[in-house]
Amino acid sequence: MENEQPSGHPPVRVERRPVDEAESRRANGPDWDRYADEYQSTHGAFLGDVGFVWGPEGLTEAAARVLGDVTDRDVLEVGSGAGQCSRWVRAQGGRGYGLDLSFRQLQHSRRIDLESGMPVPSVLGTATHLPFADASFDVVFSSFGALQFVSDIELAVVETARVLRPGGRFAFSITHPTRWMFPDDPGEAGLVASQSYWDRTPYVEVDDATGVVSYVEHHRTLGDWVTLLADAGFALTRLLEPEWPEGHDRVWGGWSGTRGRYTPGTAIFVADLR
Ligand SMILES: C[S@@+](CC[C@H](N)C(=O)[O-])C[C@H]1O[C@@H](n2cnc3c(N)ncnc32)[C@H](O)[C@@H]1O
Repeated sequence: MENEQPSGHPPVRVERRPVDEAESRRANGPDWDRYADEYQSTHGAFLGDVGFVWGPEGLTEAAARVLGDVTDRDVLEVGSGAGQCSRWVRAQGGRGYGLDLSFRQLQHSRRIDLESGMPVPSVLGTATHLPFADASFDVVFSSFGALQFVSDIELAVVETARVLRPGGRFAFSITHPTRWMFPDDPGEAGLVASQSYWDRTPYVEVDDATGVVSYVEHHRTLGDWVTLLADAGFALTRLLEPEWPEGHDRVWGGWSGTRGRYTPGTAIFVADLR
């Protein structure tokens, strides 16, 4: 859940209420456009222009190795932002491609392409409608990308299965589902459970002036994810819950050492298409 508001963001009120796919997309595309400059200036150095980080704990793909050997593989990143992870995939000899809902995030991707000399071919699009032929990729991944922003998650997972080749791998990181029990506060207050883990009602920010939904995140429990993956033909092979590293004092939204020492902040699912 987002609590880092961009400086120019309109005042919002927070609600929990149902939001469908069209409204989620209408809200989150412009929200990420507004937020992109601040996101990249705040987190760009931590992510690394040619770097693959799975979440605020700083676990890298070089350490986790959940994608397998990407050399000579076709690899799609969904919710690719400025393409840092896909650029790392390219540096390993893979053919990494990006897809993102935000035009401004993709402009940052292009900027880093030119600065780094390591371009990532990328498209504007959404996780629920991947503009690729069936069986185009060996790996699809998402590092805190689209999945928690999508309402029609069944469709997003089925779309992923469609564009993967048989035996292909799907790996993604999201806010750890148990975090939805707690206030999105990096301090001690964020350690006291105050909401039901089983309440799937989306987290919604509504523009105070217009009443328009300006940001949405969707929650699924761990069990929901297991069912979603199995129903789309995936076999779950790993669930990583990175621990907060000793001496890592970076605060990222609601993620911090104060909370990370007690509760997992990130879940990384790894599944293979049967
Ligand atoms: C937290 S950022 C992560 C970006 C990148 N993976 C990183 O580590 O910086 C989430 C990204 O998901 C994108 N996104 C949100 N909803 C999406 C959707 N429905 N389809 C594709 N991308 C989406 C946003 O535009 C944003 O760039």
